[in-house]
Amino acid sequence: MTDRTFDIGDRTVDRLGFGAMRLTGEDIIGAPDDEDAAREVVEHAVEAGVDLIDTADSYGPGVSERLIGEAIGDDEDVLVATKAGLLRNREGDWLPHGDPDYIRNQVLCSLDRLRTDTIDLYQFHRPDPDTDFEESVTTFGELKDEGLVSEVGLSNVSVEQLETARDHVEVATVQNRYNVGDREESDVLEACEEYGIGFIPWAPINGDDIDGVDAVEKVADDHDATTRQIALAWLLERSDVILPIPGTSSVDHLESNLEATEISLSDEEVERLTDAGSN
Ligand SMILES: NC(=O)c1ccc[n+]([C@@H]2O[C@H](COP(=O)([O-])OP(=O)(O)OC[C@H]3O[C@@H](n4cnc5c(N)ncnc54)[C@H](OP(=O)(O)O)[C@@H]3O)[C@@H](O)[C@H]2O)c1
Repeated sequence: MTDRTFDIGDRTVDRLGFGAMRLTGEDIIGAPDDEDAAREVVEHAVEAGVDLIDTADSYGPGVSERLIGEAIGDDEDVLVATKAGLLRNREGDWLPHGDPDYIRNQVLCSLDRLRTDTIDLYQFHRPDPDTDFEESVTTFGELKDEGLVSEVGLSNVSVEQLETARDHVEVATVQNRYNVGDREESDVLEACEEYGIGFIPWAPINGDDIDGVDAVEKVADDHDATTRQIALAWLLERSDVILPIPGTSSVDHLESNLEATEISLSDEEVERLTDAGSN
């Protein structure tokens, strides 16, 4: 049985969190049709005991952070992780932008929308090919030194980039794509285990990756569970440093995802699911 909690800096959080990207409009641009319903999902997550919420300035942009701020304000029992480093346009593109002045501007916007004085975990969303990576991560470190952010995280980085970043700033977490059907980033997970860094897999229950994977469907049948619940239960068993952040805009789906913590997989099932991955 793995630990249910993980320490991010001096905060201990439950390892199953909530991803707030889906609270926005279509293509993660603009406001959702029903803002009350979106705020209700956040409130419900916190009432159910979720104390790790992931968002980004680029979700909306601004919308996801604003709705979280309106729903729970600066709730000291909840670690809100946000990100900077991607611009958006009306076509929905995600455009890397790691310029230090831009990051310094964005942290002020995020503080305002999240209604807080300090960002609990500030993640560099994606390395920018047009900005020196070390300059970007150094800026995140400076924001920590200045007290605007408590902890620094990275996202969508290679092992080499993680190691480079560690020369400039203490890295609390890495957020890369990873799930039972997609193990491309296994080497980064292994590096996080070695360094005791939290690994936050995004797209943890992505249907395109997990639907149709025989082992997942068989284990789900055996537990009378959904494939998404099994995908989450496997992530929680896979490593003590993994903190999945399944995203949903629905209270029903949220509840179903949280029930994954009640599923106990046998060692043999964990092994079968691990062997089912493509990488
Ligand atoms: N760092 C990065 O570059 C990056 C990139 C992408 C995402 N993220 C973060 O990772 C989080 C999770 O990623 P994600 O949202 O792309 O993928 P995900 O959590 O794997 O899947 C979300 C999708 O699954 C659906 N869903 C959720 N629970 C369900 C359930 N119980 N039954 C059926 N469908 C369900 C959601 O639709 P409904 O809304 O209808 O439930 C949504 O379409 C995001 O919220 C965001 O915080 C980070």
